Amino acid sequence: MQKTLAASPGTLRKRIKTLHEHYRDQPGALLTILETVQDSDECRYLSEESLTMVSEVTGVPLSRVWSVATFYSYFNLSPQGKHTITVCRGTACHTRGSLNLLREAMALMGVPDFREDEETVFTTADRLFTVRVVACFGQCALAPVVEVDGVIYSRVTVSQLCSLINGLRKGGKK
Ligand code: FES
Repeated sequence: MQKTLAASPGTLRKRIKTLHEHYRDQPGALLTILETVQDSDECRYLSEESLTMVSEVTGVPLSRVWSVATFYSYFNLSPQGKHTITVCRGTACHTRGSLNLLREAMALMGVPDFREDEETVFTTADRLFTVRVVACFGQCALAPVVEVDGVIYSRVTVSQLCSLINGLRKGGKK
């Protein structure tokens, strides 16, 4: 994996230590630490180096740190794109065309022969976009639902999604 810490290793280690001392023995402390570490990374992911650092500073076995990081879909184990597009693939969204939305998004990412059963998260080589799916946003009445950079869009059409993506692309890279 790439080393892409936005914070220097020394700064990150201090941040982890501070959180560990603050939340010592509290349930969920490891989740808070991992969230902070992920947010400290310019590519919003948990690298092997950072997971090892969390284990070293907190004393939590590395196997346990890994199991938590891999259990929660919130945590990324590979570098993420600047923009994240999440397409809901729940039943309500599926029946209202979310597979078409996903395929169009992937075609715009240069993957015209995208197979949903093979990929659940895709990041473009230039790291401008990450496309992922979710089981349900809990907004089924507004299907199909797509989240772009944390903003929920409802009753999305293919043309709306394409113009959103093209607009982000024109916005430039990191
Ligand atoms: S199925 Fe898409 S929001 Fe529930």
